[in-house]
Amino acid sequence: MAPGPQGISGIDGIDGIDGIDGIDGARAWRHLHLFAFSQERFKESGAASDFNTITRRRDRASRRPPSTLACVQYTAAMPIDLSVEVIANHPLSADYNVLALAAPAIGAAARPGQFLRVKAGRGHDPLLRRPFSVFEVLRDAGGTPTGVSILSKRIGASTSRIYDARPGDLVACLGPLGRPFSIVDPPDEAWMVAGGVGLAPFATLAAVLGARGVHSTLFYGARRAAELFYLDFFRGLGVELVLTTEDGSAGEPGRIVAPLDRRLASRAAAAGVMIYACGPEGMLAATAKTAAQHGRPCQVSVERIMGCGLGGCYSCVVPVRSDDGRFHHVRSCIAGPVLAGDRVQWD
Ligand SMILES: Cc1cc2nc3c(=O)[nH]c(=O)nc-3n(C[C@H](O)[C@H](O)[C@H](O)COP(=O)(O)OP(=O)(O)OC[C@H]3O[C@@H](n4cnc5c(N)ncnc54)[C@H](O)[C@@H]3O)c2cc1C
Ligand code: FES
Repeated sequence: MAPGPQGISGIDGIDGIDGIDGIDGARAWRHLHLFAFSQERFKESGAASDFNTITRRRDRASRRPPSTLACVQYTAAMPIDLSVEVIANHPLSADYNVLALAAPAIGAAARPGQFLRVKAGRGHDPLLRRPFSVFEVLRDAGGTPTGVSILSKRIGASTSRIYDARPGDLVACLGPLGRPFSIVDPPDEAWMVAGGVGLAPFATLAAVLGARGVHSTLFYGARRAAELFYLDFFRGLGVELVLTTEDGSAGEPGRIVAPLDRRLASRAAAAGVMIYACGPEGMLAATAKTAAQHGRPCQVSVERIMGCGLGGCYSCVVPVRSDDGRFHHVRSCIAGPVLAGDRVQWD
Protein backbone atom coordinates (compact mmCIF):
# COMPACT_ATOMS: atom_id res chain seq x y z
CA MET A 1 0.00 0.00 0.00
CA ALA A 2 1.31 3.41 -0.90
CA PRO A 3 1.89 5.52 2.20
CA GLY A 4 0.07 8.84 2.08
CA PRO A 5 1.04 12.20 3.45
CA GLN A 6 2.59 12.17 6.92
CA GLY A 7 3.18 8.46 6.74
CA ILE A 8 -0.49 7.53 6.52
CA SER A 9 -0.54 3.86 5.63
CA GLY A 10 -4.07 2.77 6.39
CA ILE A 11 -6.92 2.79 8.85
CA ASP A 12 -8.52 0.16 11.00
CA GLY A 13 -9.96 -2.50 8.82
CA ILE A 14 -8.78 -0.98 5.58
CA ASP A 15 -5.13 -1.91 5.40
CA GLY A 16 -5.55 -5.09 3.53
CA ILE A 17 -6.66 -7.38 6.34
CA ASP A 18 -10.39 -7.24 6.45
CA GLY A 19 -11.56 -8.30 3.06
CA ILE A 20 -11.04 -4.80 1.71
CA ASP A 21 -7.76 -5.64 0.01
CA GLY A 22 -6.67 -3.29 -2.70
CA ILE A 23 -8.16 -0.14 -1.22
CA ASP A 24 -5.48 2.46 -0.77
CA GLY A 25 -5.36 3.22 2.94
CA ALA A 26 -4.50 6.89 2.65
CA ARG A 27 -7.32 7.48 0.18
CA ALA A 28 -9.77 5.52 2.33
CA TRP A 29 -8.72 7.46 5.41
CA ARG A 30 -9.27 10.75 3.61
CA HIS A 31 -12.70 9.64 2.46
CA LEU A 32 -13.65 8.73 5.99
CA HIS A 33 -12.33 12.04 7.30
CA LEU A 34 -14.25 13.96 4.63
CA PHE A 35 -17.35 11.89 5.29
CA ALA A 36 -17.14 12.78 8.95
CA PHE A 37 -17.00 16.48 8.19
CA SER A 38 -19.65 16.33 5.50
CA GLN A 39 -22.08 15.42 8.28
CA GLU A 40 -22.01 18.89 9.74
CA ARG A 41 -21.62 22.45 8.61
CA PHE A 42 -18.46 23.95 9.98
CA LYS A 43 -16.51 27.12 9.87
CA GLU A 44 -13.13 28.11 11.16
CA SER A 45 -12.97 29.04 14.81
CA GLY A 46 -11.19 32.25 15.62
CA ALA A 47 -9.81 30.63 18.77
CA ALA A 48 -7.61 27.96 17.25
CA SER A 49 -6.60 27.57 13.66
CA ASP A 50 -6.64 23.78 13.59
CA PHE A 51 -10.05 23.38 15.17
CA ASN A 52 -13.32 24.06 13.48
CA THR A 53 -16.39 25.38 15.17
CA ILE A 54 -19.68 23.85 14.13
CA THR A 55 -22.49 26.33 14.32
CA ARG A 56 -26.01 25.04 14.35
CA ARG A 57 -28.32 26.03 11.49
CA ARG A 58 -30.32 28.30 13.79
CA ASP A 59 -27.18 30.18 14.85
CA ARG A 60 -26.15 30.74 11.24
CA ALA A 61 -29.58 32.03 10.34
CA SER A 62 -29.63 34.49 13.21
CA ARG A 63 -25.96 35.40 12.63
CA ARG A 64 -25.27 35.00 16.31
CA PRO A 65 -21.54 34.69 17.01
CA PRO A 66 -20.63 31.25 18.36
CA SER A 67 -19.43 31.14 21.94
CA THR A 68 -17.09 28.46 23.22
CA LEU A 69 -19.80 26.71 25.18
CA ALA A 70 -22.66 27.50 22.83
CA CYS A 71 -21.42 25.20 20.12
CA VAL A 72 -19.47 22.05 19.59
CA GLN A 73 -15.94 22.18 18.27
CA TYR A 74 -14.66 19.47 15.99
CA THR A 75 -11.04 18.68 15.41
CA ALA A 76 -9.96 19.04 11.79
CA ALA A 77 -6.24 18.48 12.25
CA MET A 78 -4.76 15.63 10.22
CA PRO A 79 -3.69 12.71 12.41
CA ILE A 80 -0.62 10.62 11.67
CA ASP A 81 -0.83 6.87 11.08
CA LEU A 82 2.34 4.94 11.81
CA SER A 83 3.66 1.54 12.69
CA VAL A 84 5.84 2.44 15.66
CA GLU A 85 8.38 0.59 17.75
CA VAL A 86 7.91 -0.08 21.44
CA ILE A 87 10.73 1.69 23.29
CA ALA A 88 9.88 0.35 26.74
CA ASN A 89 7.10 -1.31 28.68
CA HIS A 90 6.86 -0.45 32.39
CA PRO A 91 4.46 -2.62 34.37
CA LEU A 92 2.99 -0.62 37.26
CA SER A 93 0.88 -3.43 38.75
CA ALA A 94 -0.71 -6.71 37.68
CA ASP A 95 -3.04 -4.74 35.35
CA TYR A 96 -1.56 -1.33 34.70
CA ASN A 97 1.41 -0.56 32.47
CA VAL A 98 3.00 2.36 30.65
CA LEU A 99 3.98 1.67 27.07
CA ALA A 100 6.53 4.03 25.49
CA LEU A 101 6.33 4.34 21.71
CA ALA A 102 8.86 5.77 19.25
CA ALA A 103 6.53 8.26 17.55
CA PRO A 104 8.24 11.68 17.56
CA ALA A 105 5.89 13.23 14.98
CA ILE A 106 2.84 12.27 17.02
CA GLY A 107 4.52 13.50 20.19
CA ALA A 108 5.28 16.85 18.57
CA ALA A 109 1.67 17.26 17.40
CA ALA A 110 -0.14 16.01 20.52
CA ARG A 111 -1.95 18.37 22.86
CA PRO A 112 -3.22 17.55 26.36
CA GLY A 113 -6.49 15.61 26.22
CA GLN A 114 -5.99 14.15 22.76
CA PHE A 115 -5.90 10.43 22.16
CA LEU A 116 -4.33 7.75 19.98
CA ARG A 117 -5.77 4.63 18.44
CA VAL A 118 -3.43 1.77 19.18
CA LYS A 119 -3.21 -1.88 18.28
CA ALA A 120 -0.43 -4.10 19.58
CA GLY A 121 0.29 -7.53 18.13
CA ARG A 122 -0.62 -9.07 14.82
CA GLY A 123 -3.77 -10.72 13.55
CA HIS A 124 -7.44 -9.86 13.52
CA ASP A 125 -8.26 -10.22 17.21
CA PRO A 126 -8.96 -7.57 18.21
CA LEU A 127 -9.87 -6.24 14.79
CA LEU A 128 -10.00 -2.55 15.65
CA ARG A 129 -7.49 -0.33 17.31
CA ARG A 130 -8.45 1.01 20.73
CA PRO A 131 -8.41 4.61 22.00
CA PHE A 132 -5.85 5.69 24.62
CA SER A 133 -5.08 9.13 25.95
CA VAL A 134 -1.63 10.48 25.26
CA PHE A 135 -0.04 9.94 28.68
CA GLU A 136 3.41 11.51 28.24
CA VAL A 137 5.23 13.24 25.41
CA LEU A 138 8.72 11.73 25.62
CA ARG A 139 11.61 14.11 24.93
CA ASP A 140 15.37 13.94 24.55
CA ALA A 141 17.78 15.99 26.68
CA GLY A 142 17.27 18.97 24.38
CA GLY A 143 13.49 18.85 24.74
CA THR A 144 12.80 17.48 21.26
CA PRO A 145 9.90 14.98 21.21
CA THR A 146 11.06 11.38 20.72
CA GLY A 147 7.76 9.62 21.27
CA VAL A 148 4.67 9.21 23.38
CA SER A 149 3.56 6.87 26.12
CA ILE A 150 0.17 5.47 27.07
CA LEU A 151 -1.04 4.41 30.51
CA SER A 152 -3.08 1.25 30.00
CA LYS A 153 -5.36 -0.74 32.30
CA ARG A 154 -5.77 -4.35 31.23
CA ILE A 155 -9.47 -5.16 30.77
CA GLY A 156 -9.65 -7.19 27.53
CA ALA A 157 -7.87 -8.50 24.45
CA SER A 158 -6.25 -5.28 23.25
CA THR A 159 -5.10 -4.00 26.63
CA SER A 160 -3.71 -7.50 27.37
CA ARG A 161 -1.58 -7.26 24.24
CA ILE A 162 -0.46 -3.82 25.30
CA TYR A 163 0.44 -5.17 28.73
CA ASP A 164 2.49 -7.97 27.15
CA ALA A 165 4.22 -5.87 24.45
CA ARG A 166 8.02 -5.97 24.43
CA PRO A 167 10.66 -3.45 23.35
CA GLY A 168 11.17 -3.70 19.61
CA ASP A 169 7.59 -4.86 18.90
CA LEU A 170 5.70 -2.87 16.29
CA VAL A 171 2.43 -1.20 17.28
CA ALA A 172 -0.13 0.43 14.97
CA CYS A 173 -0.66 4.00 16.17
CA LEU A 174 -2.94 6.71 14.76
CA GLY A 175 -3.06 10.17 16.27
CA PRO A 176 -3.26 12.63 17.76
CA LEU A 177 -7.05 12.55 17.61
CA GLY A 178 -9.88 14.49 19.16
CA ARG A 179 -10.33 17.85 20.75
CA PRO A 180 -7.89 18.72 23.57
CA PHE A 181 -8.43 20.53 26.84
CA SER A 182 -8.62 24.32 26.79
CA ILE A 183 -5.73 25.53 28.92
CA VAL A 184 -6.13 28.30 31.48
CA ASP A 185 -3.60 31.00 32.33
CA PRO A 186 -2.63 32.44 35.72
CA PRO A 187 -4.09 33.70 38.01
CA ASP A 188 -6.71 31.00 37.33
CA GLU A 189 -5.99 27.67 38.95
CA ALA A 190 -6.39 24.23 37.37
CA TRP A 191 -8.00 21.45 39.37
CA MET A 192 -7.61 18.07 37.69
CA VAL A 193 -9.97 15.30 38.83
CA ALA A 194 -8.86 11.76 37.97
CA GLY A 195 -10.49 8.42 38.67
CA GLY A 196 -8.36 5.31 38.14
CA VAL A 197 -6.90 5.14 34.64
CA GLY A 198 -8.53 8.54 34.09
CA LEU A 199 -5.17 9.85 35.29
CA ALA A 200 -3.88 9.35 31.74
CA PRO A 201 -4.49 12.78 30.15
CA PHE A 202 -3.24 14.72 33.15
CA ALA A 203 0.50 14.12 32.87
CA THR A 204 0.70 16.18 29.68
CA LEU A 205 -1.86 18.68 30.95
CA ALA A 206 0.07 19.21 34.20
CA ALA A 207 3.29 19.75 32.24
CA VAL A 208 1.71 22.39 30.00
CA LEU A 209 0.01 24.10 32.95
CA GLY A 210 3.32 24.12 34.84
CA ALA A 211 5.10 25.72 31.90
CA ARG A 212 2.46 28.49 31.95
CA GLY A 213 2.90 29.03 35.67
CA VAL A 214 -0.63 27.87 36.52
CA HIS A 215 -1.06 26.52 40.06
CA SER A 216 -2.47 23.00 39.69
CA THR A 217 -4.09 20.52 42.03
CA LEU A 218 -4.69 16.85 41.20
CA PHE A 219 -7.69 15.23 42.90
CA TYR A 220 -6.90 11.56 42.31
CA GLY A 221 -9.07 8.67 43.42
CA ALA A 222 -8.41 4.94 43.11
CA ARG A 223 -9.63 1.71 44.63
CA ARG A 224 -6.53 1.19 46.74
CA ALA A 225 -3.12 2.75 47.47
CA ALA A 226 -1.34 0.37 45.08
CA GLU A 227 -3.38 1.85 42.19
CA LEU A 228 -2.25 5.44 42.76
CA PHE A 229 0.49 5.92 40.19
CA TYR A 230 3.03 8.61 39.23
CA LEU A 231 2.55 10.63 42.41
CA ASP A 232 6.20 11.74 42.47
CA PHE A 233 5.94 12.73 38.81
CA PHE A 234 3.11 15.15 39.61
CA ARG A 235 4.82 16.38 42.78
CA GLY A 236 7.91 17.06 40.67
CA LEU A 237 5.82 19.35 38.46
CA GLY A 238 4.70 21.27 41.54
CA VAL A 239 1.18 19.83 41.46
CA GLU A 240 -0.65 19.71 44.80
CA LEU A 241 -2.11 16.24 45.43
CA VAL A 242 -5.45 15.37 47.04
CA LEU A 243 -5.83 11.59 47.22
CA THR A 244 -8.68 9.24 48.02
CA THR A 245 -8.99 5.45 48.01
CA GLU A 246 -12.16 3.42 48.24
CA ASP A 247 -10.61 1.06 50.82
CA GLY A 248 -8.97 3.86 52.81
CA SER A 249 -5.44 2.51 52.28
CA ALA A 250 -4.14 5.96 51.22
CA GLY A 251 -5.49 9.48 51.42
CA GLU A 252 -9.07 10.09 52.44
CA PRO A 253 -11.40 7.06 52.38
CA GLY A 254 -14.19 7.30 49.79
CA ARG A 255 -14.68 8.96 46.43
CA ILE A 256 -12.70 11.85 45.02
CA VAL A 257 -15.67 14.16 44.46
CA ALA A 258 -16.10 14.63 48.26
CA PRO A 259 -12.85 16.60 48.81
CA LEU A 260 -13.45 18.43 45.52
CA ASP A 261 -16.85 19.56 46.79
CA ARG A 262 -15.37 20.77 50.10
CA ARG A 263 -12.57 22.68 48.37
CA LEU A 264 -15.00 24.34 46.01
CA ALA A 265 -17.25 25.34 48.92
CA SER A 266 -14.34 26.99 50.74
CA ARG A 267 -13.03 28.78 47.67
CA ALA A 268 -13.67 32.50 47.24
CA ALA A 269 -16.04 33.03 44.34
CA ALA A 270 -13.71 35.61 42.79
CA ALA A 271 -10.80 33.15 42.53
CA GLY A 272 -10.75 31.56 39.07
CA VAL A 273 -10.74 27.76 38.95
CA MET A 274 -10.99 25.52 35.89
CA ILE A 275 -11.92 21.91 36.59
CA TYR A 276 -10.66 19.15 34.30
CA ALA A 277 -12.03 15.62 34.80
CA CYS A 278 -11.33 12.17 33.39
CA GLY A 279 -12.48 8.81 34.73
CA PRO A 280 -15.52 6.56 34.98
CA GLU A 281 -18.75 8.10 33.73
CA GLY A 282 -20.33 8.21 37.22
CA MET A 283 -17.36 10.19 38.49
CA LEU A 284 -17.52 12.55 35.50
CA ALA A 285 -21.23 13.16 36.08
CA ALA A 286 -20.69 13.82 39.80
CA THR A 287 -17.77 16.15 39.06
CA ALA A 288 -19.70 18.09 36.42
CA LYS A 289 -22.72 18.46 38.70
CA THR A 290 -20.56 19.53 41.65
CA ALA A 291 -18.75 22.08 39.48
CA ALA A 292 -22.08 23.44 38.22
CA GLN A 293 -23.47 23.71 41.77
CA HIS A 294 -20.49 25.90 42.66
CA GLY A 295 -20.71 27.86 39.41
CA ARG A 296 -17.35 26.62 38.14
CA PRO A 297 -16.45 25.69 34.54
CA CYS A 298 -15.64 22.04 34.00
CA GLN A 299 -14.14 20.18 31.06
CA VAL A 300 -14.72 16.43 31.02
CA SER A 301 -12.91 13.84 28.92
CA VAL A 302 -15.56 11.25 28.08
CA GLU A 303 -14.79 7.60 27.35
CA ARG A 304 -17.26 6.03 24.97
CA ILE A 305 -16.60 2.85 23.03
CA MET A 306 -15.06 4.02 19.76
CA GLY A 307 -15.18 2.06 16.53
CA CYS A 308 -13.26 4.36 14.21
CA GLY A 309 -12.13 7.41 16.19
CA LEU A 310 -12.57 9.50 13.06
CA GLY A 311 -16.22 10.50 13.03
CA GLY A 312 -17.37 7.83 10.58
CA CYS A 313 -19.18 5.16 12.60
CA TYR A 314 -21.26 7.00 15.23
CA SER A 315 -20.48 4.41 17.91
CA CYS A 316 -19.29 7.09 20.31
CA VAL A 317 -22.18 9.57 20.45
CA VAL A 318 -22.89 11.59 23.57
CA PRO A 319 -26.06 13.65 24.18
CA VAL A 320 -25.28 17.32 24.75
CA ARG A 321 -27.51 20.30 25.41
CA SER A 322 -27.76 23.12 22.89
CA ASP A 323 -28.33 26.79 23.67
CA ASP A 324 -32.08 26.34 23.29
CA GLY A 325 -32.07 23.66 25.99
CA ARG A 326 -32.70 20.78 23.61
CA PHE A 327 -30.41 17.77 23.39
CA HIS A 328 -28.65 16.42 20.35
CA HIS A 329 -25.92 13.85 19.88
CA VAL A 330 -22.29 14.62 19.07
CA ARG A 331 -19.55 12.17 18.11
CA SER A 332 -17.20 12.23 21.07
CA CYS A 333 -14.23 11.14 18.94
CA ILE A 334 -14.23 14.41 17.00
CA ALA A 335 -16.38 16.77 19.11
CA GLY A 336 -14.54 15.43 22.16
CA PRO A 337 -13.29 13.56 23.99
CA VAL A 338 -13.16 16.84 25.90
CA LEU A 339 -16.61 18.35 26.32
CA ALA A 340 -18.10 21.05 28.55
CA GLY A 341 -19.38 19.15 31.59
CA ASP A 342 -22.50 21.26 31.97
CA ARG A 343 -23.54 20.50 28.39
CA VAL A 344 -23.51 16.70 28.66
CA GLN A 345 -26.74 14.90 29.52
CA TRP A 346 -25.54 12.52 32.20
CA ASP A 347 -28.66 10.52 33.06
C1 LIG B 1 -10.94 8.77 24.30
C2 LIG B 1 -10.59 7.55 25.12
C3 LIG B 1 -9.40 7.52 25.80
C4 LIG B 1 -9.06 6.38 26.54
N1 LIG B 1 -7.87 6.38 27.20
C5 LIG B 1 -7.51 5.28 27.89
C6 LIG B 1 -6.24 5.25 28.53
O1 LIG B 1 -5.46 6.20 28.50
N2 LIG B 1 -5.90 4.11 29.19
C7 LIG B 1 -6.74 3.02 29.24
O2 LIG B 1 -6.37 2.00 29.85
N3 LIG B 1 -7.94 3.05 28.65
C8 LIG B 1 -8.34 4.14 27.96
N4 LIG B 1 -9.56 4.15 27.33
C9 LIG B 1 -10.40 2.96 27.39
C10 LIG B 1 -9.82 1.92 26.44
O3 LIG B 1 -10.00 2.36 25.12
C11 LIG B 1 -10.50 0.56 26.64
O4 LIG B 1 -10.13 0.09 27.91
C12 LIG B 1 -10.06 -0.40 25.59
O5 LIG B 1 -10.71 -0.08 24.38
C13 LIG B 1 -10.38 -1.82 25.97
O6 LIG B 1 -9.96 -2.64 24.91
P1 LIG B 1 -9.78 -4.21 25.11
O7 LIG B 1 -9.69 -4.85 23.78
O8 LIG B 1 -8.67 -4.48 26.07
O9 LIG B 1 -11.08 -4.63 25.86
P2 LIG B 1 -12.48 -5.01 25.17
O10 LIG B 1 -12.51 -6.48 25.03
O11 LIG B 1 -12.73 -4.17 23.98
O12 LIG B 1 -13.46 -4.53 26.31
C14 LIG B 1 -13.50 -5.17 27.58
C15 LIG B 1 -14.75 -4.68 28.29
O13 LIG B 1 -14.65 -3.28 28.55
C16 LIG B 1 -15.72 -2.57 27.93
N5 LIG B 1 -15.19 -1.33 27.37
C17 LIG B 1 -14.31 -1.20 26.38
N6 LIG B 1 -14.05 0.09 26.13
C18 LIG B 1 -14.77 0.80 27.01
C19 LIG B 1 -14.98 2.17 27.24
N7 LIG B 1 -14.34 3.14 26.54
N8 LIG B 1 -15.84 2.52 28.23
C20 LIG B 1 -16.49 1.60 28.95
N9 LIG B 1 -16.35 0.28 28.76
C21 LIG B 1 -15.51 -0.11 27.80
C22 LIG B 1 -16.23 -3.51 26.84
O14 LIG B 1 -17.61 -3.28 26.58
C23 LIG B 1 -16.03 -4.86 27.47
O15 LIG B 1 -17.07 -5.19 28.35
C24 LIG B 1 -9.94 5.28 26.60
C25 LIG B 1 -11.15 5.32 25.90
C26 LIG B 1 -11.48 6.44 25.18
C27 LIG B 1 -12.77 6.50 24.44
S1 FES C 1 -17.73 8.16 14.96
FE1 FES C 1 -16.55 6.30 14.99
S2 FES C 1 -15.68 6.39 16.98
FE2 FES C 1 -16.70 8.28 16.86
